[in-house]
Amino acid sequence: LKLSKITNNLIGQPMFALKHKIRQLELSGKKVIHLEIGDTDWDTPEIIRQAVIASLNKGETHYTASGGIIELKRAIIKDTRKEYGFSPSLDEIVVMPANAIIDFVIRCVCDKKDRVLLPNPCFPTYLAVVKYLGIKQGGNPKLVIINSPSNPTGKMMSVKEILSWMHSNKFVLLDEVYSKLVFDNIPKPNYSKVDRSRLIFLKSFSKTYSMSGFRLGYVICNKELAGKISLLFQTIFSCMPVFIQRAGIAALENEDTILPERIKYLKECRDLMVNGLSNIEGIECENPNGAFYVFPDVSKTRLTEDLLLRNGIAVLDGAYFGTKGNGHIRICFAKEKNILKVVLEKIRKLV
Ligand SMILES: Cc1ncc(COP(=O)(O)O)c(C=O)c1O
Repeated sequence: LKLSKITNNLIGQPMFALKHKIRQLELSGKKVIHLEIGDTDWDTPEIIRQAVIASLNKGETHYTASGGIIELKRAIIKDTRKEYGFSPSLDEIVVMPANAIIDFVIRCVCDKKDRVLLPNPCFPTYLAVVKYLGIKQGGNPKLVIINSPSNPTGKMMSVKEILSWMHSNKFVLLDEVYSKLVFDNIPKPNYSKVDRSRLIFLKSFSKTYSMSGFRLGYVICNKELAGKISLLFQTIFSCMPVFIQRAGIAALENEDTILPERIKYLKECRDLMVNGLSNIEGIECENPNGAFYVFPDVSKTRLTEDLLLRNGIAVLDGAYFGTKGNGHIRICFAKEKNILKVVLEKIRKLV
């Protein structure tokens, strides 16, 4: 078939390809421990699920306002004030899936001649989007993407570093998907004091509240850009389901009963994994400040994604995350501690 040129440059997200391969293995009877995809092992909290059921039962199953219902936007405004110290207006918020926001922001900010600066290593969707759009990286970028805490390293950037990008007169996409899953006391910039005209906040409900299947996120940016992102979303997707947005309201309104316990548990998992891996000969494992990944350097060992998978542990090869990921593996630790202990023991034996 002769398809369009962009189809030659579509690479998608490597974890979904691997997930398919693992599924085939499982169908043939192999037991696999899943540490590959960036997802928590826990059910979506009851109060969030109930909000969806109530919404469905009320008949909220039709088209709705494109860009987000006002009740969710109000909850987002309140949350933004609490987390970042400023209150966006309703027309500075667009509700849509977080992963799609990466694509939409790059398309609404950059032309083909423009450059984008990505972290290295970085979340693979950034690489997939610039590849299919034919946009080059580096140089004198029009758009800079910052992801703190980072996927895959869990590292956070210093306030000084973030501010230096924000003062550089470039568009800055702050991928804040893990902003509420932080273990160490690392200060954030005071966003109420900065020029936000080129600043773009990307948020997701997936990780913070175990809602990855809801596909719910939002972007906060100046209203001109938000209007264009909203039009693009409307062109492609019309609107987000109301019952999904009700879940978002429930998550934001109840996070004080959900989050502290989660962060405490994830911190314990982080410590378990970092200590466990660092004690294995040949493995170097840095301490992530947030998110739920460790990204150890295993280049001095025999460990690979393939070897681990053959031994029943699914992780991701660091090379998916860019050239600086070579020699690393990404392990998601948002799991039962007993499982993590089994994994550490298996890795110790394999090395
Ligand atoms: C850094 C980063 N940004 C964006 C996303 C996309 O989030 P979502 O799955 O909620 O669309 C992810 C998901 O893994 C991520 O790790």
